[in-house]
Amino acid sequence: MPHTAPRLRAIEPFHVMRILAEAQALAASGRDVIHLEVGEPDFPTPQPIIDAGIAALQNGQTFYTGACGLPALRAAIAGFYAARLGVIVDPARIIITPGASGALQLILALLVGRDDEVLLTDPGYPCNRHLVSLLEGKPVNIPVDAASNFQLTPELITRHAGPRTVAALLASPANPTGAVLSASDMAILAEVCSQSQIALIVDEIYQGLVYDSPHDTALRLSQELFVVNSFSKFFQMTGWRLGWLVAPAWAAPELEKLAQNLFLAPPTPAQHAALAAFTPETLALLESRRQELARRRDFLLQALPGLGLPPMARGDGAFYLWLDCQQLSDDAEHFASALLQAEGVAVTPGRDFGAHGTRQALRIAYSQPLPRLAEAVARIARFLPDYCAATGRRLPSQQANHFQDH
Ligand SMILES: Cc1ncc(COP(=O)(O)O)c(C=O)c1O
Repeated sequence: MPHTAPRLRAIEPFHVMRILAEAQALAASGRDVIHLEVGEPDFPTPQPIIDAGIAALQNGQTFYTGACGLPALRAAIAGFYAARLGVIVDPARIIITPGASGALQLILALLVGRDDEVLLTDPGYPCNRHLVSLLEGKPVNIPVDAASNFQLTPELITRHAGPRTVAALLASPANPTGAVLSASDMAILAEVCSQSQIALIVDEIYQGLVYDSPHDTALRLSQELFVVNSFSKFFQMTGWRLGWLVAPAWAAPELEKLAQNLFLAPPTPAQHAALAAFTPETLALLESRRQELARRRDFLLQALPGLGLPPMARGDGAFYLWLDCQQLSDDAEHFASALLQAEGVAVTPGRDFGAHGTRQALRIAYSQPLPRLAEAVARIARFLPDYCAATGRRLPSQQANHFQDH
């Protein structure tokens, strides 16, 4: 076996890949599989963006741009913050990246040295703890649950921060819970981090996909935050690999240096395509899709508790619901696998997202049209009697959702 770096030991594969492979094998054998496991919207990229991408390719826009991205796109993003959210951001603080993934890599590479600690939520987006480990830092996975709306609180930050803590990283709306931090809670967190001299990184990749509160950004609160965003989710461009970050002014030159070395530049045709993301036509289409996602979420919030799968958070944003399956199974992976085999409904077991309460949790992505979601609910209902009989569980009764309305 050739030598590999010890840091690889801290990096886990995505366990959901096993479910994905099973789902693909089933579909290949002719079964109708309803995919609720994948973390991307089912909507195609809006046509104006596709047209702009095609035009860019035809016009020979295939050369490197600067490492921080096209000036016109950085200006367009600043314009978007100003017009939509009333927040003024200097384009010099905006760096275009290969997805939010690229933005997270740059910011963590800027901040994290060996043995430095980063505060994260557990459950949370799994790549974050792996990125911190890759940099030989220490992810501090802080258990969160419905009591704290699955987000960090000032108390949790104070309790877990130590002399080596360099950053706290959270997502709002969050993956896998959809939990959104209110503007007032975000303001308090920003204040606590600033007092403790901890950098606050806010991942806003699901910004714009909110259903119970107005669109917002943490950039409103302070120019010292690191904010991550992406064209992947709200703009429905996952495969184009384009995102951005907004950094404090002092950090931008250092991040540019890192971007030059890590990526050279973000993808050029995708950047030209993204210039069409902020037109009134595209934004109107995206708003109608957001409303469609809200209808899907409301349908599932109403249907799932009766199946013994009560959501643990209301899913104020993103397109995920985080479900408690303990009434049905001790082992979410077993449940997900059995459901897939019996009824062709693919959902994600909680394990990928951390260790806290994840063994009996499932994530559903409502990235399917309403009739397909209704079909999935019918199939789960049909699956339960046999599953419960085989595992010796009682058939579920109507359960209340686990979250408080606020
Ligand atoms: C919370 C969060 N951050 C970052 C990412 C990375 O997304 P991308 O690199 O496609 O922008 C994802 C992807 O699912 C995510 O859920």
